[in-house]
Amino acid sequence: MLVSRACGLFAIASTVLAQTTVYEAESAVLNGVTVGTSVAGFSGTGYVEGFDTGTDTISFNVSSSTSRLYDLSIVYNGPYGDKYTTVVLNNVGGSQVSLPATTTWTTVPAGQVLLNAGSNSIQIQNNWGWYLIDSIKLAPAAKRGAHKITTTPINKNANSDAKALLKYLGSIYGKKILSGQHDQTYLDWVTTNVGKTPAIGGYDFMDYTESRKAYGAVSTDVDKAIAFAKKGGIITFQWHWGAPVGLYDTADHPWYRGFYTDATDFNIETALKDTTNANYTLLIKDIDTIAVELKKLQAAAVPIIFRPLHEAEGGWFWWGAKGPEPAKKLWNILYDRLTKYHKLNNLIWEWNSVAAAWYPGNDKVDLVSADFYNQGDHGPNSVTYNSLLALTNDTKIIAAAEVGSVMEPDQLKAYQADWVYFAVWSAEYISGGSWNSLDLLKRIYASDYVLTLDEIKGWKKT
Ligand SMILES: *[C@@H]1O[C@H](CO)[C@@H](O)[C@H](O)[C@H]1NC(C)=O
Ligand SMILES: *[C@@H]1O[C@H](CO)[C@@H](O)[C@H](O)[C@H]1NC(C)=O
Ligand SMILES: *[C@@H]1O[C@H](CO)[C@@H](O)[C@H](O)[C@H]1NC(C)=O
Repeated sequence: MLVSRACGLFAIASTVLAQTTVYEAESAVLNGVTVGTSVAGFSGTGYVEGFDTGTDTISFNVSSSTSRLYDLSIVYNGPYGDKYTTVVLNNVGGSQVSLPATTTWTTVPAGQVLLNAGSNSIQIQNNWGWYLIDSIKLAPAAKRGAHKITTTPINKNANSDAKALLKYLGSIYGKKILSGQHDQTYLDWVTTNVGKTPAIGGYDFMDYTESRKAYGAVSTDVDKAIAFAKKGGIITFQWHWGAPVGLYDTADHPWYRGFYTDATDFNIETALKDTTNANYTLLIKDIDTIAVELKKLQAAAVPIIFRPLHEAEGGWFWWGAKGPEPAKKLWNILYDRLTKYHKLNNLIWEWNSVAAAWYPGNDKVDLVSADFYNQGDHGPNSVTYNSLLALTNDTKIIAAAEVGSVMEPDQLKAYQADWVYFAVWSAEYISGGSWNSLDLLKRIYASDYVLTLDEIKGWKKT
């Protein structure tokens, strides 16, 4: 975008632009907050304090000579513990920024902002409140170099379908984004209402295992996935893995919520303590049950972006309830059982947590991803994207595995948020109108940057 500057001007312009500009909070427009001076070490003539109600804000009026991307940071003090603030650019959306406890004036990165040419508003909103703000700093973002991703699957025996899939994802990474939709019913809804078919279909192994079948659960997702693959679609599977035992099955915690931590007393940590206890055996039995389904997909030449143990770091699913170590252990068990024992070589292994402590390692993962649900925010989620870049040192392709509101292609490009695909969650998230309006979906699906089923034909031969 900004590369269009005349070459002769560039050297001069970049010297000027490369500077960091500091905007003092005490000079901004204050609403419900006041200027303080008693905590020493601030810059300028004071800092802003008194964030204690939802409507408290600081509004900075910042200007840029051109439309371009800036790195934003916040200088703050956090004597009252860990807090979050919200940063809103030009009155739309907003991103949450963590302000860890500190008693010294500290600079934290607060993501990136795409400033318009001319004046812009950057507002700090209360969120948790109880922090002191000294200033914000803006520095022009460096253009990122080429990605260093690998497109060789971690499984040395990966079959040609899996290899072709990862290679294809690599070929479009940073250039295009694949459209995706979870659940066949809503994939069909997109075809009917948006007028285009997503490139990726999202399916679930949820209703294949014993603890759910016992209650009458049935699934045809594998058949649906094979049918969609036959049309040229790319398949991703997650697994809402109902705990194999220990479901409460009460009115508040019914059996069908059995993948939630609060619906079961199944303890992953004790189950994984040794390989002989009954609950370890039950986990292996469930994995073997899913292997039967995966083999059908393998036999039908369908490679899968496989996303088990999703959102582990959230802790709301039993596989994440005991912290990172048992979750990573189970990931390795799954990998070994499915690839080495069951010889499933059609899988691309997609990890779905962002925190470094949870990461199984570059040798255990093909893709990394995150899920986000910020209603009405069609921004690029670049803070999360950049965290995933840092997580793997840019060695793995990055996906937006579940989203509520879809990202605007122009924003993705401007922020260099190179998500390889997005997959919108089902039901009201796609069809309800409040997470994504139909007009917006039509515009996004029509974008040159967004690949749909008709545009990926023959991807296996890439
Ligand atoms: C921001 O500053 C510019 C001049 O730098 C001014 O024209 C504009 O009115 C200001 N906007 C607000 C909201 O104060
Ligand atoms: C297996 O898990 C169930 C459900 O949490 C629990 O009641 C049982 O004690 C566990 N069995 C063993 C051997 O740990
Ligand atoms: C990240 O990659 C660069 C080069 O691509 C390398 O120099 C650096 O050591 C890597 N860092 C980590 C933490 O792996």
